[in-house]
Amino acid sequence: MRAWQLWFLCFVVLNADAQKVTSLEEELTDSAFGNLLDPVKDLFDEDEHHSAVAKFSLRNPSHPDDDLCYIVPGKPETLAACGFNSTSKTFLVIHGWTLSGMFESWMPKLVSALFERERTANVVVVDWLSLAQNHYVVAVQKTKAVGREIARFIDWIEDTTNMPLDKLHLIGYSLGAHVAGFAGSHASNKVGRITGLDPAGPDFEGEHAHRRLSPDDAHFVDVLHTFTQGSLGLSIGIQQPIGHVDIYPNGGSFQPGCNMRGALEKIANFGIFAINDAVKCEHERSVHLFIDSLLNEREPAKAYQCGSNDMFDRGMCLSCRKGRCNTVGYSTSQIRRPHSVQMYTKTRASMPFRVYHYQLKIHFSSKVNMSEMEPSLTVSLYGTKGEAENLELKLKERLETNRTHSFLLVTETDIGELLMLKFKWMETNSWSVSNLLKMVSSWWSGNAEGVEVHKIRIKSGETQQKMVFCLKDPDAHSSHLVTFVKCKDEWRTKRKPVSKRVTLKND
Ligand SMILES: *[C@@H]1O[C@H](CO)[C@@H](O)[C@H](O)[C@H]1NC(C)=O
Ligand SMILES: *[C@@H]1O[C@H](CO)[C@@H](O)[C@H](O)[C@H]1NC(C)=O
Ligand SMILES: *[C@@H]1O[C@H](CO)[C@@H](O)[C@H](O)[C@H]1NC(C)=O
Repeated sequence: MRAWQLWFLCFVVLNADAQKVTSLEEELTDSAFGNLLDPVKDLFDEDEHHSAVAKFSLRNPSHPDDDLCYIVPGKPETLAACGFNSTSKTFLVIHGWTLSGMFESWMPKLVSALFERERTANVVVVDWLSLAQNHYVVAVQKTKAVGREIARFIDWIEDTTNMPLDKLHLIGYSLGAHVAGFAGSHASNKVGRITGLDPAGPDFEGEHAHRRLSPDDAHFVDVLHTFTQGSLGLSIGIQQPIGHVDIYPNGGSFQPGCNMRGALEKIANFGIFAINDAVKCEHERSVHLFIDSLLNEREPAKAYQCGSNDMFDRGMCLSCRKGRCNTVGYSTSQIRRPHSVQMYTKTRASMPFRVYHYQLKIHFSSKVNMSEMEPSLTVSLYGTKGEAENLELKLKERLETNRTHSFLLVTETDIGELLMLKFKWMETNSWSVSNLLKMVSSWWSGNAEGVEVHKIRIKSGETQQKMVFCLKDPDAHSSHLVTFVKCKDEWRTKRKPVSKRVTLKND
């Protein structure tokens, strides 16, 4: 099965409760046939050149869910009638593909959040439901025509009200992100910003920039990728970077709280139906992250530029130098580079989504070869505002003796300035009991056969503070739980001397 077919199947399933679906096979055969229409796409576009395919509903803060007033291009009186404020920011919210033919429940939430943040804004919901309610492949073919219609709307608004286009912000979800791209590229003048919320992948992945959302479509294009899972051919969101800034929360897949992994495991027993909730949850998470960024302005989540998700997971990319970090969502700062900047962040499972990122650098020194060990490492952090206990340090590779390993650690709450940490080592694999006993008894002790950690270097992503922690009691033998405190030298410069003397080992 091709990726989009599986994708399509998922959404048939997703929308099954909202609409009577014929037979799945029938839908699939039809849409497979639809693909044959690809070469004549442009002919279709010409046909629709002059027919109205989108409606522009100016929403009202007190009725975020209702279409009370439509702005009609060519009829300036509708602007006044709807209360369009030409000195304010204007948002165009563009939905994606639908089988139900109705707005999804995130729409009023996003509209409310936009008003919450920008009280006098014009929030226009672009309604192209009648075309979006088609087989996926057909809906894809319509995106260009809808984009053109929106471009004409933008041109008209600009001419009629003299509104500067840097006040115009298009927000498109899924297929709507590419519609926004077409709107931007067809508008006579460049629009200020386009935000793509998990832009659709099937039929767009790998396509030429002119046939999808791309950095050329606005002065600033920022994208959140939340469902780019490649395995099983199941990638609903586009995987490749397509904006000036592309942020991949949690690596762009497996969003916390969506239980995609659990759902994938269930496929074997319950079939494709097992994954519908998880699919919706992952894809739509992009919208909720954006809503979160509008509502929780004071708690912005940060994302960090990184070469790969794997490097990010090792804590190697928490730098903010030279614009390497940015704010997730509405407050993302505009950066323009020749190439897309890919950024990563971790999130919680619900709002507020922000977490606090730390890099831990730990040097393991030993006389024995550690590569056979598979310890489980946990760390507890204690700070001025709170604590985060028993956080797992995920080993991304085998431990190597006499090497510094880097880990990423996140806390869900702000623990303030870090004062102390406790480090726990548990051997989990089949390593023999005698070996284990030997390890534990000689652990930290400076014993020739033990593994030693003298210092832990920590960097906070959110504060960019760097700290070094030293073993609190280097003489305490035989413990797999050890405490580290800020190293003496550092304490002196910033605080009163510590009462307890800490002897530093030379290494
Ligand atoms: C229009 O928006 C501006 C700010 O963008 C605000 O100062 C003004 O009061 C608004 N006008 C109306 C009629 O709401
Ligand atoms: C690690 O380094 C120490 C001192 O430099 C050395 O004695 C020890 O043999 C090394 N361990 C391994 C496994 O190579
Ligand atoms: C440790 O052992 C592994 C295999 O068990 C070996 O590949 C590696 O080279 C050894 N490392 C050292 C430093 O001896």
